[in-house]
Amino acid sequence: MVASERVDVLYAAADVDRRIEDLAREIVTTLPEDFLLIGVLKGCFMFVADLARALDRAGATPGIEFIRLASYGLGKESSGEVQVVGDLPGDIRGRQVLVVDDIQDTGRTLAVAQRLLIQRGAAKVWSCALLDKPSRREVDFKADFIGFDIEDVFVVGYGIDYAERYRHLPYIGIVRHGGA
Ligand code: IMP
Ligand code: MG
Repeated sequence: MVASERVDVLYAAADVDRRIEDLAREIVTTLPEDFLLIGVLKGCFMFVADLARALDRAGATPGIEFIRLASYGLGKESSGEVQVVGDLPGDIRGRQVLVVDDIQDTGRTLAVAQRLLIQRGAAKVWSCALLDKPSRREVDFKADFIGFDIEDVFVVGYGIDYAERYRHLPYIGIVRHGGA
């Protein structure tokens, strides 16, 4: 942690666990039995690990794949451009897909991901974000499954970074600057 920064807990690890358990049950009631979960790296890594285990408990048997997309530089603002920086290794033609990201902010990343996966031949694409900031939306896109709606605050932890820091935290927190 940088000396002038502090992270306040927004959702403790137990709150996140509980919400993911419910989210997995919602997903299982909507999606077909055979689907491919595609996580958007890097921010999704912890969420996908826990969601996959919750989906198992809820009776699903998804395949798991990752795509790495980037829209942020090292600051807090999106560059507005989404790039594929690590592609899917295989064919997804005809597959039922659930694309999973950490946060929906402007909405661009998931909108681009969904379009890309449809272009690649997916039969249907659902989307899921652990966190959603509806007040920040710049494109008309809403994930089908959302863990928590949050205010316009910059969050870290549970896989989510600020300038590549804080991904390791087991909880979701808000970065405060200047010790305020
Ligand atoms: P969108 O394309 O603007 O919806 O942005 C989605 C991506 O922006 C997420 O996958 C995050 O990587 C990043 N992002 C958005 N809000 C935050 C935040 O509060 N903390 C850290 N990363 C964020
Ligand atoms: Mg991200």
